[in-house]
Amino acid sequence: MSREPLTRPIITIVQHIAERQRAFPEAKGDLTWILSGITLATRIIESYVRRAGIAGVLGELGTENIQGEVVQKLDIVANETILRVLGYRDIVGIMVSEEDDEPTIVKSPGSGGKYIILFDPLDGSSNIDVNVTIGTIFSVLRCREDIDESEGTLPHILQRGSYQVAAGYVVYGSSTVLVYTTGQGVHLFTLDPSIGAFTLHTEHLQMPTSGKTYSVNEAYYDSFPDPVQKYLDWTKHNGYGQRYIGSLVADFHRTLLKGGVFLYPPTRKNPKGKLRLLYEANPLAFIAEQAGGAAWDFNERLLDKRADALHERTPLLIGSTEEVEKVMSFHDRGKS
Ligand code: AHG
Ligand code: MN
Ligand code: MN
Repeated sequence: MSREPLTRPIITIVQHIAERQRAFPEAKGDLTWILSGITLATRIIESYVRRAGIAGVLGELGTENIQGEVVQKLDIVANETILRVLGYRDIVGIMVSEEDDEPTIVKSPGSGGKYIILFDPLDGSSNIDVNVTIGTIFSVLRCREDIDESEGTLPHILQRGSYQVAAGYVVYGSSTVLVYTTGQGVHLFTLDPSIGAFTLHTEHLQMPTSGKTYSVNEAYYDSFPDPVQKYLDWTKHNGYGQRYIGSLVADFHRTLLKGGVFLYPPTRKNPKGKLRLLYEANPLAFIAEQAGGAAWDFNERLLDKRADALHERTPLLIGSTEEVEKVMSFHDRGKS
């Protein structure tokens, strides 16, 4: 009896990264080791997300984080899970979390800590209790070798987004999908619950160069800068649709797959934007550019942006190149 041809090889994410690392003789499997830790942590988080109502992790913790935001129980569960899993990967030096005021120093750069993991453990917290898609976002930097121990850890952390060695996110939606890049394209994996492994779904994903969907919270229209208001007015007469889930990771994932543009402009409430540069905007900007898209802060290319503080916020404009250019054209008009 002839055997059915394999329709799709079963490739796990660890296998996928290991195969790519072979292309770099000097790589010693470090990224594989880190990303396998991230996949383990996100599988644990996913198990809580899927049982939130019965695992006692719904609702608020009754405290606020450094962002001044109400902390959800699942924020802490996700944060603790990542810290516990990655804290024991010996090449991890520093961990920076949206939920922690200060970095967690696992092993200082001077005593062997090689990588910095920056993460938003649970993105879209306001959607947890109403069963809407949420996610986890991560970014990986290498500790710098040109910094003296006496300068502390901040100069290692406040590197431009273009220095990231890996970035990705997990979106806990109708299925659980992990998207990552190490600078060799963008690859998608779907969690197969029957074997508990992320298996390869799409390699070298390309974002459509255009898409008539814009994603913004238009409730803040009145406080947006004038060029953004003019762009939003323009969309109303040019056949655009609007989608806004309120979880950055979900709005970005749709934009990555379908094309379009996501905007979180400066507002009166958040004059520097609401989203955090180091562990929300930078990782998604790395992925967007690796998939052929673009990411700006309405003024400069996001991956060139200097970070001056751990939890620094930034305006974010990210998506298909033609759509990002269209938004920026309203800014350039304002300058001429
Ligand atoms: P987080 O839950 O990690 O604090 O992130 C929430 C962010 C982001 O996910 C989303 O795009 C944005 O907040 C929504 O903000 P608004 O409710 O102001 O639109
Ligand atoms: Mn977030
Ligand atoms: Mn968060």
